[in-house]
Amino acid sequence: MKFQNLATVVALIPYVLGFPHLANFPEYRSLAGLSPQEIRAVTRQFNSMPGAQPLPPPINDTSSKLINDADHPFMPLQPGDIRGPCPGLNTLASHGYINRTGVTTPGDIITAVQEGFNMGYQFASFLCYSAFVTDGNQLTNLMTIGANTTTDGQLATGINTHGNFEGDASLTRDDAYLGNNFNFNKTLFDVFDVAAKEVGNGVITFEAAALNRALRINDSIARNPEFAFETPRFLGGIAETGFFLAMFVNNQTVDNTMPLRIEDARSFFDFHRFPDGFYRRQGPFEFPLVKNVTYTLIDMIGRQPGNNNGVNNYVVNPEDPATFCYFYQKQVNATASLYPNPTPELGAAIKANLVTYYNTLEDPTCEQYFPYGQ
Ligand code: HEM
Ligand SMILES: *[C@@H]1O[C@H](CO)[C@@H](O)[C@H](O)[C@H]1NC(C)=O
Ligand SMILES: *[C@@H]1O[C@H](CO)[C@@H](O)[C@H](O)[C@H]1NC(C)=O
Ligand SMILES: *[C@@H]1O[C@H](CO)[C@@H](O)[C@H](O)[C@H]1NC(C)=O
Ligand SMILES: *[C@@H]1O[C@H](CO)[C@@H](O)[C@H](O)[C@H]1NC(C)=O
Ligand SMILES: *[C@@H]1O[C@H](CO)[C@@H](O)[C@H](O)[C@H]1NC(C)=O
Ligand SMILES: *[C@@H]1O[C@H](CO)[C@@H](O)[C@H](O)[C@H]1NC(C)=O
Ligand SMILES: *[C@@H]1O[C@H](CO)[C@@H](O)[C@H](O)[C@H]1NC(C)=O
Ligand SMILES: *[C@@H]1O[C@H](CO)[C@@H](O)[C@H](O)[C@H]1NC(C)=O
Repeated sequence: MKFQNLATVVALIPYVLGFPHLANFPEYRSLAGLSPQEIRAVTRQFNSMPGAQPLPPPINDTSSKLINDADHPFMPLQPGDIRGPCPGLNTLASHGYINRTGVTTPGDIITAVQEGFNMGYQFASFLCYSAFVTDGNQLTNLMTIGANTTTDGQLATGINTHGNFEGDASLTRDDAYLGNNFNFNKTLFDVFDVAAKEVGNGVITFEAAALNRALRINDSIARNPEFAFETPRFLGGIAETGFFLAMFVNNQTVDNTMPLRIEDARSFFDFHRFPDGFYRRQGPFEFPLVKNVTYTLIDMIGRQPGNNNGVNNYVVNPEDPATFCYFYQKQVNATASLYPNPTPELGAAIKANLVTYYNTLEDPTCEQYFPYGQ
């Protein structure tokens, strides 16, 4: 009883200290932009703060196997469950490969994307940390696969936070400038149909996917005056077309040549559900393959990284090399500007996570960045 009273008093301290707007701060929300005083106030409310964690071990069996199985049934959303802009992570959550609430850890995401989709260990770690360092909570080691949510009066964004990792010209989500950047939009999804009919005999072949990618970019150029498409978004946006070809096709072959059916695409993008009898791809979708598919698509589409300066005025940035090393470096700089003044504990966690992030590149030619010192 006494303890409980003490806990109540402690929970009220942020109020007492003058940060009523931070009461009930969700443990999964990023600490970006908070002052050291605010960080100390909110962390008093957290249950556990493990800080930076090592990567989980890789899965060892990367053969194709049944994923939509009896142990992982689709379940509809419960009140409060969070889904977001990523159809891959949404589907894993709706089948219980990651916590069905949508609140999870980087380690659980890395294991789940390997298990459920055969995304390669190294690339999965790179991708997950790209989002975690900007959008996750590095003291609680939690992140959400996230939309905008309001818990106890606290607005929180997750991996949908615009401009951190989420960006423009998504395939089935609107640009943030134009509307909602995390919910499925059927009008945009129908562009798959257009492309499939035009060059794919009604299914999404590699050519149809490239056409769909180009059409979605052209739509943003035509309608979003603030269209932003430099690396990392440039590479991310194009890689995502590779993702659905490589990982949403039942029992996809190593060379990604089997096409995706429109109804299976809808199952993932809209319903967050594995098609019946879904087998994950044959062999991991790992860095060399990811790069091959991404740069092949870039060649087919014929677009370079850049930004709109008003609608229909796309300006290429010739300084942007569109490499994964540059992706990492830009993301580290973005992280440093999101957390200019961390507490010592938060600074230590960010520093350790940035080292983990660099190591996922496995590219000794890439200059490592140390915005918080070596
Ligand atoms: C490793 C962890 C992952 C993270 C952190 C992540 C994060 C994200 C984010 C933030 C977006 C939104 C980007 C945007 O459109 O602005 C996104 C989109 C997307 N992701 Fe993931 N993702 C992950 C794994 C996967 C996996 C395993 C797949 C496929 C099996 C996948 C497929 C996609 C696709 C197809 C899109 C594009 C959605 C659209 O444009 O409508 N992702 N992801
Ligand atoms: C994969 O094998 C290695 C080496 O035997 C082991 O350390 C690791 O824990 C295994 N991974 C999993 C997920 O079991
Ligand atoms: C999912 O997260 C909720 C809330 O944090 C927790 O209560 C639950 O035990 C978790 N589920 C699993 C399967 O770990
Ligand atoms: C999500 O929240 C952000 C503020 O954190 C806000 O700028 C944005 O408009 C919101 N988006 C939607 C679709 O509600
Ligand atoms: C879907 O996207 C279209 C095109 O951007 C937009 O006009 C429409 O309002 C969006 N629909 C919803 C429900 O947000
Ligand atoms: C996209 O726009 C460019 C420039 O207007 C045009 O050359 C290209 O054909 C368009 N792509 C598609 C697939 O319509
Ligand atoms: C997956 O495809 C391979 C050939 O690419 C085939 O041998 C195997 O039987 C297929 N598995 C299933 C479950 O369809
Ligand atoms: C991608 O892989 C294909 C074979 O699957 C190969 O022909 C091609 O040269 C590779 N392209 C790049 C850019 O590595
Ligand atoms: C990252 O920031 C540093 C320091 O401001 C700057 O020198 C460097 O050019 C930036 N790197 C990139 C890739 O923008």
